[in-house]
Amino acid sequence: MKARKRVTTAGATGSRPARASDRPRRTPTVRTVRSAIVPVDRRPRPPIGGAPQSPGRAASAAEDRGPAVDLSVDLAPGRGGLRLENPVLVAAGTFGYGVEYGEVVDIQRIGAICSRGTTLQPRVGNAPPRVTETPAGLLSSVGLQNPGVEAVLERYAATWAGWRVPVIVNIAGGSIEDYVAVARRLDGVPGVAGIELNLSCPNVARGGLLFGIDREGAAAVTAAVRRATELPLMVKVSPNVADVRPIALAIEASGADVISAINTLPGMALGPDRTGPFLGTGYGGLSGPAIRPVALRIVHEVAQVVSIPIVAIGGVTELADVLDYLAAGAVAVQVGTAIFADPALPVRLADELAAECRRRDLASYRPLVGTALPRRPGAPSARGVEYRP
Ligand SMILES: Cc1cc2nc3c(=O)[nH]c(=O)nc-3n(C[C@H](O)[C@H](O)[C@H](O)COP(=O)(O)O)c2cc1C
Repeated sequence: MKARKRVTTAGATGSRPARASDRPRRTPTVRTVRSAIVPVDRRPRPPIGGAPQSPGRAASAAEDRGPAVDLSVDLAPGRGGLRLENPVLVAAGTFGYGVEYGEVVDIQRIGAICSRGTTLQPRVGNAPPRVTETPAGLLSSVGLQNPGVEAVLERYAATWAGWRVPVIVNIAGGSIEDYVAVARRLDGVPGVAGIELNLSCPNVARGGLLFGIDREGAAAVTAAVRRATELPLMVKVSPNVADVRPIALAIEASGADVISAINTLPGMALGPDRTGPFLGTGYGGLSGPAIRPVALRIVHEVAQVVSIPIVAIGGVTELADVLDYLAAGAVAVQVGTAIFADPALPVRLADELAAECRRRDLASYRPLVGTALPRRPGAPSARGVEYRP
């Protein structure tokens, strides 16, 4: 895949002539837009955090030799633990159920896998087209296509149970009862390390309002799922709200162990003839680098009000993004859209994080967490930085 593409735009701006024939011929300008998708790098990598496996092999920039760095993090220390070997996860809906990528990348070296969204009943998903690339991201409307929780467990749970990498099952539903039924089914199943609640689903009982749109909706579904399972519970917030902080607080108070932020933002692309939308559903979810500043702001906001760990999601494509999210108060990140072009990216980012820690003489990445949060003079500890991995 090309890293760059040429986009042709109209050159002149200003007042528009009355008729098309009156308009002067426009000389198109050409600007270069960096693709949201980074090229694939399939070079073999050493174990994360440690020195290269084969002493004779030349180390790359990301693998500089030195002492091992502790990249481990426990996302749910209060609930029997959800321990990850490194803080780079893959995001729901962008890595299938993990098994699909076994040939392409050493999945055991990923921090954790958030599965494709899973519902109580099978779903065929939305009408095509479902995906289109934008200059700084991806617009998608897959519609939670999945075979239903029963089939998911039958097909994959035994495989997951043999993996070192934890699998967190991302769940969705149209009612609280749906979420609860899926959570109950997952509870205690070997191979299921945790649950991630997708709150960006329409609540049928509330006329299609997203569960994550307000405090009440988010709290009700979180509390109900909390009661249904002992599994570590990560709750994924929607960015499509005026103020995410009360919602995050309600999620924390309702028993979530972790908050993940953020899901996609609604967007639209038109079809080539501009007579209607491009996507089969009309609107879709925007992901990729385009949403990164929004996600960074939300992580920074949430980190200042909750004490549970935060996992950042949104446009992660390089180490600088990981460092930004850690500084904003996240203890881990998820990689989503960028995986479509480079499934090995999460593993490489973990390598690069280890190398960065070595460069800074850090034995672990913990000191990188929360450095961009405001400091309150005189306060023994600021809320939001109390949790350290
Ligand atoms: C094709 C696609 C499918 C997705 N499916 C889900 C899903 O099933 N459940 C969910 O919580 N998020 C889903 N997401 C959202 C991602 O997990 C992630 O929150 C979002 O894409 C932002 O991260 P990114 O910019 O790294 O892609 C999906 C995203 C994409 C692009």
